[in-house]
Amino acid sequence: MSNSFSESGFDLAQVDRLLTTTRAVRKRLDFEREVADELIFECIDLAEQAPTGGNDASRRWLVIRDQSLKDQLGELYAEVGTLFINARGRLEGTGHPKEQVVNSSAYLVENFAKAPALVMCAIWGLHDNSGRPGLFDSAIPSAWSFNLALRSRGLGTAYATMLNNKSDEVADLLGIPPGVTTLVCFPVAYTLGGDFSPVSRRPASNITYFDQWGFTRERPSADGSARVQDGPGVVVEIDTDARPKAVWEHISDINMPAQFSNEFVGADWVTSGAIGPGSVFKGRNSIANVRDWETDCIVTEWIERQVFEWRITDPVKPGAIWRFEVAEQGAGSRLRFSMVIGKENNGTAPRALQDPSLENDVLFERRLIHKANMQRVVEGVKSLVDGPVNGDRQ
Ligand SMILES: Cc1cc2nc3c(=O)[nH]c(=O)nc-3n(C[C@H](O)[C@H](O)[C@H](O)COP(=O)(O)O)c2cc1C
Repeated sequence: MSNSFSESGFDLAQVDRLLTTTRAVRKRLDFEREVADELIFECIDLAEQAPTGGNDASRRWLVIRDQSLKDQLGELYAEVGTLFINARGRLEGTGHPKEQVVNSSAYLVENFAKAPALVMCAIWGLHDNSGRPGLFDSAIPSAWSFNLALRSRGLGTAYATMLNNKSDEVADLLGIPPGVTTLVCFPVAYTLGGDFSPVSRRPASNITYFDQWGFTRERPSADGSARVQDGPGVVVEIDTDARPKAVWEHISDINMPAQFSNEFVGADWVTSGAIGPGSVFKGRNSIANVRDWETDCIVTEWIERQVFEWRITDPVKPGAIWRFEVAEQGAGSRLRFSMVIGKENNGTAPRALQDPSLENDVLFERRLIHKANMQRVVEGVKSLVDGPVNGDRQ
């Protein structure tokens, strides 16, 4: 790792390692090694530097050391955690994406009381759903700082919240007064080894929107405004009750978007063979006296029940890249429909590039239209797989 210092003098390699490798630790908690109170105080002092609404000093920390109390908390944790024990049985050996986290969470359920210390982060205040930044919200930043402080000192934990389902029992057991909310109960221990790795998350460019919900850019812009060269895009997402299989059946049908999108009223989508990786389908206008167009769509990614991506006109210099992604979300699915405007082979880029002072506005307006049509498409898919929403019933 290179030694690079930020303007404010931080060793970025060290800071970034802390931020990217502070993981949920369960199976690598060392239950045999004692943790001194001194260290816990130190980490809480660091955590207390976190922001707090109104600069109100209302956070409280409760450290459980007594084994009998830990055992009772462990039993309460296990009552909620049976869901992990059951799920572990179902997922074992299946290679399911959640297999590992479920297995590790189940391990913690069975061993919660063995942690040398259980540390609860609490706050004077109740979540009142008022929409104002509540006292409750002030506890979360410091709870995470506490995690980071532990990691920096060779300790680890998991952000365990399941006891929140047993808050009355926990309050009785620990003498917590009414008016206090407990948010998280950290099982704190030294970690077995210190080599934790960053995990794969969606890149910022996928989930960061500029100026309008869903407006993406593939690359950072030099001056902050939207530019054709930075790959401006649009994302819409919708959750369905249906499983990915049912959603996939519709999104993998090339005529499906046309049913719902205003952009494609009267368009035909045709393919000479089965749709799959590398295949080409054509879109063309079939209404007489309306602007004629015909376009090639090259399938550039196709993973059954997960991804369908196609590029307009030229796979290397696409007019646009369109992409459906479907993934499990809870008991149902999340459908993501995204597009990126290409640098050529489309009508928008030349219009945007005609006058640099208008580039941002042209891209903004065009994406508003795309977004509205794409929203219609995902809502259309949802109505096909879930049935009409209540308000739509006749
Ligand atoms: C709000 C929240 C609640 C969580 N609740 C629990 C929990 O009750 N039990 C547990 O073992 N892990 C819990 N976790 C930890 C997550 O399972 C963990 O962050 C996730 O599996 C990703 O692992 P990573 O943090 O190592 O990337 C929680 C995390 C958060 C942010």
